Parts: sequence; structure tokens; C-alpha cells
Amino acid sequence: MQLQDLYQEAIKFATAKHLEQDQKLPGTNLPYVVHLSNVAMEILVAGSHTDKFDTRFAVQVALLHDTLEDTATTRKELVTRFGKEVADAVAALSKKPKLPKAEQMADSLKRIRRLRSEVWAVKLADRITNLQAPPPHWDQQKINDYRDEAIQILAALREGNDDLAGRLEDKIMEYSKMFAEPISKKDRTCLLEAGGEGGSIQLVQIKDYFLFSTDETMLLEFDPDLTLEDLKSESDAYNSFDEAMVGLLARYRIFGLYPIAVHPDFREKVIAYYREYCAHEEHQDQWAREDWDQMLYGDPDTDTHKRIEM
Ligand code: NI
Repeated sequence: MQLQDLYQEAIKFATAKHLEQDQKLPGTNLPYVVHLSNVAMEILVAGSHTDKFDTRFAVQVALLHDTLEDTATTRKELVTRFGKEVADAVAALSKKPKLPKAEQMADSLKRIRRLRSEVWAVKLADRITNLQAPPPHWDQQKINDYRDEAIQILAALREGNDDLAGRLEDKIMEYSKMFAEPISKKDRTCLLEAGGEGGSIQLVQIKDYFLFSTDETMLLEFDPDLTLEDLKSESDAYNSFDEAMVGLLARYRIFGLYPIAVHPDFREKVIAYYREYCAHEEHQDQWAREDWDQMLYGDPDTDTHKRIEM
């Protein structure tokens, strides 16, 4: 079957299913199919810019992506009509309602990451089309959370499609500027900090994502709120501590700097990276080594850890 015919099949099926629920585009009177067609359009354009992109598969997934989550469609129905791979993709794109709400997105992203990059692309496209003016009934917290969730999605799926990752990044910037509040300092947890004379490098966790920054500590003291532009001028957001740590070590010799703080929950992980670093011959005589040993292996109640309590 040709792409255009597959498209027709999928959009007719999905439209009928969402109509059964009388589902509208949130905050409007428009039928839900507008959302589906927008996601499919993102996929068609991105597919034309991406090597080895299976557009036929991705377009079906795009049009069907909300059928399991929002309608009475069963997985079996999708398998029969569109094949197992499409059904598996739609299942991964669906949140599991039995899980606590706070875990649903991370769980779905984990399942998406096990599948082909076209499925990653559909999730990126979904959030690109959804990052518009928030519906009037949303409060500020919900608006902020939606932005933060978009950063989480980008961190997890950025490698899935360059084109769409770039577009989502732009949309997050726009949305942040127009609707969301800056990420407040209280949402940042410093996991690792090391410094030299001029300032420091921090690896931080913000909700469900990680990044490292080279902000000067002194400046941060004066500016408690970090905007997304600052965030962007830091590193990209990463999906896990390990991914952020690998990115950090590729850019900076963090263990060659003076240690300032290590979060107790991440001490074991940092030790593993430190050991690996010390195993390299050219890192044997680092001047900060004694301080790192003290920080990582010393008594956790000594004052070397007081910074992280702040
Ligand atoms: Ni959607």
C-alpha cells in the first residue's frame, strides 16, 4: 500500500475512535483529528529531512498515537488493522494509568527508548504540536510543569531525530518566554560541584532531568532564579545522571578541579567515575587528588559536605 493510502486508513480509523469519545482539541471546539494531523505533518516534514526514516511506519504511529490512551481502541484491534509493530509503538506512547501520575511520563519514555527512532520522533512531534498557548483553565503550576515535562521529553529522546529535537527546543524556549515561570533555585539539586579560581562547575538535577553548568557560583548567589536561556547556555538536559556525567567528563576534567560538594545519594556513582579517572596514567599526579579522596572516602559528617545542605 502507498503512503497516501496508509495515511487515509489510519486517519479515518483514529478520527472515528476519537469522535466516539467526542474528544476535542483541548481548550477549543475543534475535533481531535486536528491534533493527529498536526503530529503527522511534523513527521512528514521531519521524515523528508532524515536519512533512513521509515515514513510509512511513522505516519501510521503518528495518526494512531493517542488511540490506546484516549479511546476504547484495544491493542488487539491495532494489531489486526495496522500490524504488531505499529501497535507496540502506540502502546509505548501511551501512559500506564495504573502507575502513580508522577511516574507515568518517565515510564512511557523508557518504553519508547526501547523502540525504533521513528517512535521517538512521534513523541517529539506530539509535544511540539502541543506546546501552544495553554488552555485558559490551567494554573501557573500546571503551565510550568508542562514546560518541565517537555524538557524531560527532549532530554530522553533528543537523539531520536535532529530535526524534531531542534524544533522542540525552539518551542520550549518560546513557551517559557511567553507562559512559564523561570525554573526556581529550589527545584535544582546540586549533585556534584568542583571549582577552580574563577568559578565552579555543577552537575545538577532538576525534576526528572540532569545537566551541568559552568555558572560562576558568585553570580548564582546574586541571581536565585535561573531562566531557560541560562539553562540553554549550560549543557543540554540529559535523561539520567550517568548520561550527564559522561557528557560532563567529555568536556571538563572535573576531577582535576578542587572538589566542593558531592551529594550523599550520588557518592557511590561519583566514586566509580573517580576511580576510572584515576586509573589513567596521565591523571595520577593531580593536585586535587587528596581533596577528592577526602571528599569521597572521608567521614560524611565532616564539614566537607556542608555545602550540599544549603
Ligand atoms: Ni497526542
